[in-house]
Amino acid sequence: MAHGARLLFPDNVPELLFVPYNYALAALEVLAMRTLRTLFAAIGLASVTVAAPPGFPTNGNGLWYTIPGKIWSLDYLPVGNGFLAAMTPGGTVQEATQLNIESLWAGGPFQDPTYNGGNKQPSERTAMAAAMQQYRDAIWDSPTGNIDDISTLTTDAGDYGSYVGAGYLVSTLNISGAVTDYSRWLDLNQAIARATWTQAGSTFTRETFCSNPTQACTQHISSTGALPSLSFAFASSIEASFPTPNITCFDSSTLRVQGFASIPGMAYEFLGRVRSTGGHISCASAPAVSDPALWGPTTNATLSVTGHPSEAWISWVGGTDFSQDAGDAAHGFTFRGADPHVAVLALLSGPPSTATYTSLRSAHFTDFEGAVGAFTLDIGQKPQLGTPTDVLIGTYQTDVGNPYLEWLMFNYGRYLLASSARGELPANLQGKWALDTQTPWSGDYHSNINIQMNYWSAEMSNLNLINPLFTYFEKNWAPRGAETAWTLYNVSRGWVTHNEMNARVLLAFSFLPSISLQIFGHTGMKAADNSASWANYPESAVWMMVHVWDHFDYTNDVNWWKSQGWPLIKGVASFHLDKLVPDLRFNDGTLVVIPCNSPEQNPITLGCAHAQQLIWQLFNAVEKGFDASGDTDTAFLEEVRTKRDAMDKGLRIGWWGQLQEWKVDQDMQNDTHRHLSHLIGLYPGYAITNYEPTLQGNILVNGSRTTYTKSEIIDAATVSLIHRGNGTGPDADSGWEKMWRAASWAQLQNATEFYHELTYGIFENFGSSLFSLYDPFDADPIIQIDANLGLPGAILNALLQAPDVPTIATPLVITLLPALPSQWSSGAMKGARVRGGMMVDLQWEGGSPTSASFTVDASVVTRPVQVVHGNKIVASFTTSPGLKKTITSF
Ligand SMILES: *[C@@H]1O[C@H](CO)[C@@H](O)[C@H](O)[C@H]1NC(C)=O
Ligand SMILES: *[C@@H]1O[C@H](CO)[C@@H](O)[C@H](O)[C@H]1NC(C)=O
Ligand SMILES: *[C@@H]1O[C@H](CO)[C@@H](O)[C@H](O)[C@H]1NC(C)=O
Ligand SMILES: *[C@@H]1O[C@H](CO)[C@@H](O)[C@H](O)[C@H]1NC(C)=O
Ligand SMILES: *[C@@H]1O[C@H](CO)[C@@H](O)[C@H](O)[C@H]1NC(C)=O
Ligand SMILES: *[C@@H]1O[C@H](CO)[C@@H](O)[C@H](O)[C@H]1NC(C)=O
Ligand SMILES: *[C@@H]1O[C@H](CO)[C@@H](O)[C@H](O)[C@H]1NC(C)=O
Ligand SMILES: *[C@@H]1O[C@H](CO)[C@@H](O)[C@H](O)[C@H]1NC(C)=O
Repeated sequence: MAHGARLLFPDNVPELLFVPYNYALAALEVLAMRTLRTLFAAIGLASVTVAAPPGFPTNGNGLWYTIPGKIWSLDYLPVGNGFLAAMTPGGTVQEATQLNIESLWAGGPFQDPTYNGGNKQPSERTAMAAAMQQYRDAIWDSPTGNIDDISTLTTDAGDYGSYVGAGYLVSTLNISGAVTDYSRWLDLNQAIARATWTQAGSTFTRETFCSNPTQACTQHISSTGALPSLSFAFASSIEASFPTPNITCFDSSTLRVQGFASIPGMAYEFLGRVRSTGGHISCASAPAVSDPALWGPTTNATLSVTGHPSEAWISWVGGTDFSQDAGDAAHGFTFRGADPHVAVLALLSGPPSTATYTSLRSAHFTDFEGAVGAFTLDIGQKPQLGTPTDVLIGTYQTDVGNPYLEWLMFNYGRYLLASSARGELPANLQGKWALDTQTPWSGDYHSNINIQMNYWSAEMSNLNLINPLFTYFEKNWAPRGAETAWTLYNVSRGWVTHNEMNARVLLAFSFLPSISLQIFGHTGMKAADNSASWANYPESAVWMMVHVWDHFDYTNDVNWWKSQGWPLIKGVASFHLDKLVPDLRFNDGTLVVIPCNSPEQNPITLGCAHAQQLIWQLFNAVEKGFDASGDTDTAFLEEVRTKRDAMDKGLRIGWWGQLQEWKVDQDMQNDTHRHLSHLIGLYPGYAITNYEPTLQGNILVNGSRTTYTKSEIIDAATVSLIHRGNGTGPDADSGWEKMWRAASWAQLQNATEFYHELTYGIFENFGSSLFSLYDPFDADPIIQIDANLGLPGAILNALLQAPDVPTIATPLVITLLPALPSQWSSGAMKGARVRGGMMVDLQWEGGSPTSASFTVDASVVTRPVQVVHGNKIVASFTTSPGLKKTITSF
């Protein structure tokens, strides 16, 4: 059977490749699915449409289906505003919309008052310093340069917690009879989900959207005739193990839901208010019942609309008592804020209660178009308005491709980011869409590729939504991270975070509390089966600082840089100044990290390429951004310069021509590990891509001084990339590894390999709702959103590149169409941003550019720019504010 057909009919997948994480939980989930399926069977879908529904965007910018969704991860359609998220199956008589609140987490200090971010006790500091020294000595002296254990440095994860689902909104119409002319779709121009069908002589339309400015979500029902009576209720029981909330009538048109993420745990509240045109709204309480589980008596209530309104809608707002402002020592790291009631009531009392439905909706359209519309892409796609999205993805083939679907997935990635990142917290491993109480990998912030990838497209595709990420570093990571620097590393300036995950969790596919960076400042190095590969990653914040520097480089927003960007970079750089040590193994006069390993990959050794390249880039960012920062700490700048020049740059060519992953030449040729850690300087970094012999050369190799040429470095990186395989290793088959490979091949200007990896990733890892799936062959797979959000970044990297440079004086090279596949031979992009505060418009035909224009919006420094196409410099200029430059001959 064709692979595509399997994706289309997930029910037919015979085997589960992994052991389900929790049988009881899985059974409940299946029960919930069955309930929904039985419901759909009862409705009896008599006929299906074969054309996109009326009202579907004529440019094809949307997803559409001819049957309601069945499986959450495969079928449900996402809406969100960053604060709240919702997944809709597109039900008819009954719609069960699954809900999320961005900060609703079980665990942490809410569950365990002794929770301390996974840190060592201050009393253990001396012992840690001694252990660190012991491990370092062992590596210096080891015959292989490796050791196999650093477990003394790790700590138990404690009550790490998990992002949790927040129950369901159940909307029910009192109607029966055969359903015809059914369709549902997600409009990506306007960020709204719709379902329409004909039943009992009327055509019904249900619309769901979440508005960012009002922080509310709204679901609206209307029909061509008067509506039957209808009701709205909240249900939590479908979310396995989720404490039953108290649901009460707040007033005659408003439901109030109050509950806890866990017992004990974080409190949350929803308020949902129903409005209608015509008819009568009422709220009825059911008598309190004693919940069978341990959390005591609960109440329930339902809102009803009778008297045949012509339309009815519910707007809901929600919040928790989580507060990032209380994540520091002054607040005892409690992360606890006020009871959410006052805040959610204030939100509900605004436009959701006062504006008409049409004005609520049009304000949302305007906001969303403003959020994503500054940038547009055309890759020559032809909308296929006669083919539902599940058929499009189900018939997609590697290498053959389909520009329409690729364009759609590009827009979908930006849609998902705009719908999940614009809250208080950044987009997590699930965006903000998560089901149940045990979200895969806790729905946390894996910062060794996954969260980075989430934001790949943000700067270049002109999405102004990255700031919550930086505020999260500032308020969630830095305070506890300073404690970790002190207790674990005996470093008294700056801060550090780690990123790791229990190996057994991944392999057994078990969602036991997994271990990484969550929202309670978990910065320690967590014990994980004595596996340093998961635990030892003190460079996680260094990688994230690439995004901080890039944001300034793209926007030239000096005020932001001074107040938030620079302090973040200075904090992380300060820590690493103290953590680098002279290399006593090679005795080559360099400074190295030790003990280190690649993210999620051993050995435990010294001078790991990934860390050395990233820290070098961080130190360059300090130098490049110092003048604009207003900081007068020149001693710090000088120390950064001195140690940067002295440090090992993490670039060595090994015995089989590979770029070495570790300073000891020990890479295995068959290592198809999912991560491309040592190629970080190829993409998204620049230590390889913009290798500069005068800055990175003159290294000691086998006893003699050597300076590699740029082409030697690029060739070695290419050898390593080839040996890493196509992202289906024995260790995983996920979408993000293919997107990373696609972007890396684009960086090497290899259109064939770029398109192969991109199309292979789309073929292999995306379900019918176009969500990226961790294991595409599972009947009920889990979502990992990084590949969705990384896909636009990979596509952009094939069309326009302007990678960072080590110094402001180094020319910024902007390459047009570096890896254009023949499938996209004509197209255009408008409103792209590149470094240096520049905007770019680009058009191409027959595989070559026809016009490229550059506008310097903001510019804090003048810098040299070269525009390149096909290895030829087609223009050179120096930036200055307001400069405009159009190129039409190539
Ligand atoms: C911590 O570092 C300081 C400064 O380098 C050093 O003097 C001190 O001995 C170290 N503490 C321990 C416990 O090793
Ligand atoms: C549903 O509609 C039927 C037929 O119109 C009516 O008899 C019944 O009372 C309604 N039920 C509710 C809960 O409104
Ligand atoms: C409340 O009642 C509704 C409708 O009767 C039901 O669907 C829902 O599951 C109940 N909620 C809880 C939390 O029990
Ligand atoms: C529901 O209300 C009861 C009575 O006030 C209270 O004891 C219980 O803790 C509440 N439960 C939740 C989940 O809020
Ligand atoms: C370094 O020297 C060793 C021993 O002579 C040799 O095996 C290895 O290939 C050399 N490495 C490089 C990169 O030349
Ligand atoms: C690669 O080859 C080495 C040496 O032959 C072997 O020990 C190792 O298990 C292989 N690794 C993989 C991932 O196949
Ligand atoms: C991916 O790589 C594996 C292992 O080399 C190979 O068997 C498979 O055919 C490749 N698939 C694609 C689509 O590149
Ligand atoms: C792209 O990479 C493949 C695999 O290494 C290679 O065979 C091919 O020649 C490369 N194409 C270009 C244009 O460099």
